[in-house]
Amino acid sequence: MNTQSNKTIIVTGANAGIGRETARGLAKLGHTVIMVCRNVPAGESVRQDIIAQTGNQAVELMKCDLSSQASIRQFAADFTAKHPRLDVLINNAANFDHTLKQPVLTADGVEVVFATNQLGPFLLTNLLLDTLKASAPARVLTVASQGLMMYPFLTIEFDNLAGQKKFSTQHAYYHSKLAQVMFTFDLAERLRGTGVTVNCLRVPNVQIDHGRYEYITGWKRRAYEIKRRRAITPAQMAEAYIRLAVAPEFETITGQYFDEHCREVKAHKPAYDRAVWQKLWAVSAALTKLETVANR
Ligand SMILES: NC(=O)c1ccc[n+]([C@@H]2O[C@H](COP(=O)([O-])OP(=O)(O)OC[C@H]3O[C@@H](n4cnc5c(N)ncnc54)[C@H](OP(=O)(O)O)[C@@H]3O)[C@@H](O)[C@H]2O)c1
Repeated sequence: MNTQSNKTIIVTGANAGIGRETARGLAKLGHTVIMVCRNVPAGESVRQDIIAQTGNQAVELMKCDLSSQASIRQFAADFTAKHPRLDVLINNAANFDHTLKQPVLTADGVEVVFATNQLGPFLLTNLLLDTLKASAPARVLTVASQGLMMYPFLTIEFDNLAGQKKFSTQHAYYHSKLAQVMFTFDLAERLRGTGVTVNCLRVPNVQIDHGRYEYITGWKRRAYEIKRRRAITPAQMAEAYIRLAVAPEFETITGQYFDEHCREVKAHKPAYDRAVWQKLWAVSAALTKLETVANR
């Protein structure tokens, strides 16, 4: 793979799982990697490990809690003050917290799964758009889930964004991942002609770090272990992230949905509803108090 180092690349959620292996692989290729993590000690330990393994000193750690709009704004200000360019933004971090039994609202008054998985990437990407455009050709990669295939009729539930009508972590998670797919398609349209491409990667069953679900017991634990045995490794999945992020053959492709082999695949039909894209954009902008928005 010709990877055209040295790019400046943000990976959110880089202290664990696929994000960590993506940061490692990109560092190995010689890129400048900004690990964006909410847990600074965990991020720093991974950063040191990546530097020791790859010899690439250009691996930075920056703090951001993607469920907090204040934290995202602070991060974006700190990043743009320090870095004049951004070649690739990988919106990888996500909340799939099985302990949530009812909706939990963030300090911004938004249900935490929607806040982290949809509004977080929405706000972060918009705040970094000028830098991405100035660095064109540049890329934005968002992350969805193959599990969305289990919800062929799901669309955005504008009357249930806070989980006020029905709530389970699983439902909130897949709903937020669908929002990411629609945000990707919409943003790709808005950015046509700017040199900034936007694509979404669908992740299949990938091993999750053992420590993350220590609290799961009983049959759920056994089911989790069986699922884990069938899963691919985070490093295998990271190969697709890395190709889509830096391989020249993807430089001009935009508005696509990819599988773990970097093949273009179709999302389910409701994901292509442009009227819903527009409403989702307007609601997300209102909920994040975003004033400057990407042109259509
Ligand atoms: N693993 C799978 O089978 C699978 C399947 C479908 C889709 N995916 C998607 O693939 C991506 C990576 O998943 P993974 O398997 O690597 O999961 P993971 O190991 O649980 O990693 C998730 C990362 O997101 C971070 N994160 C969560 N909430 C955050 C917040 N509020 N602010 C900042 N960072 C936050 C976590 O940080 P902390 O360590 O601080 O919690 C962690 O670094 C996610 O988008 C996920 O939805 C995974």
